Amino acid sequence: MKTATRRTLTRLAFVAGVRVRDREGHLDVTRDGRTQFRIRGASREVVAALEGMTGSLAAPEPVPSPPEEQLEAVLNRVIRLLEHHIVLGDTVALRLEPLVPGLGHSPADVGADTPVRLNRFAFLRVHEGDLVLESPLSPRRARLQADPVRELAAALGAGTTAREQALALDLPVTVVQELLGHLAGASLVDTADEDGSFAADRDDVLRQWDFHDLLFHSRSRMGRHDYPFGGVFPYTGTIEPRPAVRPLPAGPVVALPRPRLEDIAAKDPSLTAVLEGRRSVRTHARTPLDLDRLGEFLYRCARVRAVTAARPEEGMPYPASSRPYPTGGASYDLELYLSVHRVAGLEPGMYFYDAGGHRLVLVNADEDDRNAMIGIARVSAGGIDAPDVLITVTSRFQRLSWKYRSLAYAATLKNVGVLYQTMYLVATGMGLAPCALGGGDSDLAARTLGLDYLQESSVGEFLLGSRPAPEELPPAGHLSWTPVNDADWHPRCERELQPAAAPARPGTPA
Ligand SMILES: Cc1cc2nc3c(=O)[nH]c(=O)nc-3n(C[C@H](O)[C@H](O)[C@H](O)COP(=O)(O)O)c2cc1C
Repeated sequence: MKTATRRTLTRLAFVAGVRVRDREGHLDVTRDGRTQFRIRGASREVVAALEGMTGSLAAPEPVPSPPEEQLEAVLNRVIRLLEHHIVLGDTVALRLEPLVPGLGHSPADVGADTPVRLNRFAFLRVHEGDLVLESPLSPRRARLQADPVRELAAALGAGTTAREQALALDLPVTVVQELLGHLAGASLVDTADEDGSFAADRDDVLRQWDFHDLLFHSRSRMGRHDYPFGGVFPYTGTIEPRPAVRPLPAGPVVALPRPRLEDIAAKDPSLTAVLEGRRSVRTHARTPLDLDRLGEFLYRCARVRAVTAARPEEGMPYPASSRPYPTGGASYDLELYLSVHRVAGLEPGMYFYDAGGHRLVLVNADEDDRNAMIGIARVSAGGIDAPDVLITVTSRFQRLSWKYRSLAYAATLKNVGVLYQTMYLVATGMGLAPCALGGGDSDLAARTLGLDYLQESSVGEFLLGSRPAPEELPPAGHLSWTPVNDADWHPRCERELQPAAAPARPGTPA
């Protein structure tokens, strides 16, 4: 590793919070008061050099200078606590903080006339009072702490060269080259090849990543950032957790029929028949869904079956509930809203499903609003007729973000997947027509359902209806594909699910 490069503007420094203390016989390197390293046998010069690397300003010249190899040996041990400072005048203009501990940083060579531009995945934002440049492709966070560096970052949006920026910023070209070299070395800036083209534009893998998808992927998992992660309960004592069961919106209430476990158990197909015979059905029968079956479906998929107040002594400092499908942290952030087009025994309208009381609350009776929601779902499903029911799944986001940092929204989407499969299986077992959808209009949903977008908005959509007779259904698409691994299980199990068919257990010849 190259240490303090005294010919340039670049200095190695300790990251914020590091202190170096000369104890009897050893050196204590602490971060935020916790010992990170204990170093024995360091010379007085090395101790002085390390002390000079703490604090916000890089020491212009560590004095007295230790032999390079001695200092390097120590710095290699503490590499995960080091960052690069680029000093302009008496200011640290650019700080490159490590997001991935232990990864070295090598500035790139940037020619004075080489075209440079901001990487497509880089973004500017405010963090701890500084303008910072970050990217899911970069193991560094660049703190832009002086005007020339902030102006340089802005100019990089359009593409430029070190020479052009040296003129614009009134800086020596070598200084701009050094700044750009650090940003390019940290993958925050692209440099053009000899022919003027950029390698990133030719990279078929990168081209297929949307900016927000790669950022979301990198930030909702560990490994590429240093932000708080997981169940850290950041708001305990300052913000009250949201209730386990959503309070009822205002509106007329419709009681829902409740199924009996004995009746369900007597008529249910086997798990294998449901799992293997399941498929998406996008068209609905001439006879509509009815209130009994809608009530049974909602009860079996999504009702609340137990509640508890917070139990801090058991590691659950927030109220929780239990429902048939699993959910991260038993937080049950998801809610169901039904845009009812055609259900016997129920007026068309937009309803909230009260999972605690197993009843519907009419939240919007406007036909245009309902049709707008259903219209988008019809397009998503490939241009179908209006479904019996469109189920809009919303998330009460703060249920998860009260507990989790970094992964709260990712957990919501996972919860949606779990709920989708639960709805698929229950609907299939009941002989109904299920189909998940991959997209919807969260703004429209928030407006028509009367929700605050930031507190609760839609994260999923699901079509439900009465299932057409088998002869009215097109065969499952995959039946014309190359069969592998017992592909015949599907048609055999689907036949078993048909009400009129003689029950054939999977495993017996069809
Ligand atoms: C998360 C998810 C999103 C989906 N989005 C749509 C969609 O937008 N439109 C649609 O017609 N089907 C959608 N589907 C259904 C899939 O197309 C279907 O599950 C897949 O083709 C496999 O067919 P099968 O369900 O009949 O076995 C979605 C399914 C899932 C799980």
